[in-house]
Amino acid sequence: MSTPTAFWLAGRKATGEDSFDVTNSWDGRVVGTVSVPTEAQVEEAVAAAEAVQAEFAATPAHVRSAALDLVARRLAERTEEIARLITAENGKPIKWARGEVGRAVSVFRWASEEARRFNSGEAQRLDTDAGGVGRLALTRRFPRGAVLGIAPFNFPLNLVAHKVAPAIAVGAPIILKPAPATPLSALVLGEILAETGLPAGSWSVLPVPNDRMPALVQDKRLPVISFTGSDKVGYQIMDSVPRKHTTLELGGNAAAVVLADWSSEEDLEWAATRIATFANYQGGQSCISVQRVIADASVFDVLAEKVVAKVAAQVTGDPSDDATDVGPLVDENAAKRVESWVDDAVAKGAKLLTGGTREGASYAPTVLTEIPADAILATAEVFGPVLSLQKVDGADEAFAAVNDSNYGLQTGVFTHDLQTAFRAHRELEVGGVIIGDAPSYRADQMPYGGVKDSGVGREGVSYAMADYTYERVLVLTGLDL
Ligand code: SIN
Repeated sequence: MSTPTAFWLAGRKATGEDSFDVTNSWDGRVVGTVSVPTEAQVEEAVAAAEAVQAEFAATPAHVRSAALDLVARRLAERTEEIARLITAENGKPIKWARGEVGRAVSVFRWASEEARRFNSGEAQRLDTDAGGVGRLALTRRFPRGAVLGIAPFNFPLNLVAHKVAPAIAVGAPIILKPAPATPLSALVLGEILAETGLPAGSWSVLPVPNDRMPALVQDKRLPVISFTGSDKVGYQIMDSVPRKHTTLELGGNAAAVVLADWSSEEDLEWAATRIATFANYQGGQSCISVQRVIADASVFDVLAEKVVAKVAAQVTGDPSDDATDVGPLVDENAAKRVESWVDDAVAKGAKLLTGGTREGASYAPTVLTEIPADAILATAEVFGPVLSLQKVDGADEAFAAVNDSNYGLQTGVFTHDLQTAFRAHRELEVGGVIIGDAPSYRADQMPYGGVKDSGVGREGVSYAMADYTYERVLVLTGLDL
């Protein structure tokens, strides 16, 4: 048996007593064995995070910025190796894995820049009332405390980056718990973080199993929780620690709306290409992958024909092959769940237009229409390569259909009309509206997060930095202003 990969305890390598295997869902091979921290080691990491808080918060901005820049550069240098690791542990096609590393580079680079801009403070004159004459308020932000970052499997590097980089940028220690299915990329990130010379205790990567997560969640020394994952687990966490500052990035059943004015051959070709691509990227295992197409009746038939042809043409297979568009899901159980939801919809009257088959952990890119309201697919987040098509009359009906969901993460609206774009921005109950593209567009500096069951709070580097900190005002008196 090979030596288990060490985890990162307060910035140094450590191994525990147990280990677990990480497997590739395409061919079932073991791609790594990871050491699990003991309870005593977790305690040591949390105690170190608490102990280093004041020192880390006081680190000069240029030191934190340089460390983040180093991480960005090292990730870029190691792109191919890390992309291959993401593909191996997650099953994500290599072209999307390379894209993920590129995005993580961008997250650390943004954090490096934001660390320099952060916290110069905001001055307010107070002589606006007689009692404030000679007074000035200076508001600056300070870390709320150490952060517990809980990352999902679908972006094993970049959604880890979104938790770690903003914490370093503001000088808040972070304990990162990667997803048990995909800890290897986060552990490689640990190798790079170890090159930065950041204070011991300022960061740890602890691959603890999910059943030990509640103890970390309850720990009062970790007052900030940043969680990405399912709405069920996210709200359980929030409800269990209502006094903590908790950010939840949860699920979605993102819609692409295609309105009547998006009607030329070129328009519909673009919309169909983007929809087919982003319904299936990473096997649909993204919270903003397209799950619902809501199209005006005047363009529906032509669009549907194009979407079905393009979905059927997605190249499926070995995720390590450059040509592959759609690989396996994270494991066979995930594919079986998707299969059962599609079968349920078809049994209840939905029309299957393409796909609908499973082989091991792989589920074929699938399009359905006329999904009945009582099918689970009509309301739940499928997190698989499954698209539903819905015909509507006009923007009123389209926007009502988008909002008829428990989720609200992002929506894509294909329209050329500026007024309609602003109307979509006003009326859609989501965290982001993308005009002229699929809902799956995300630039890592943008605010990202949802409303309703899609979560609370925002990621996006500077937004997470604001989230990890709070305002503290300094009032200066007796000034001659
Ligand atoms: C997510 O699945 O919530 C993240 C999507 C992304 O970062 O592109």
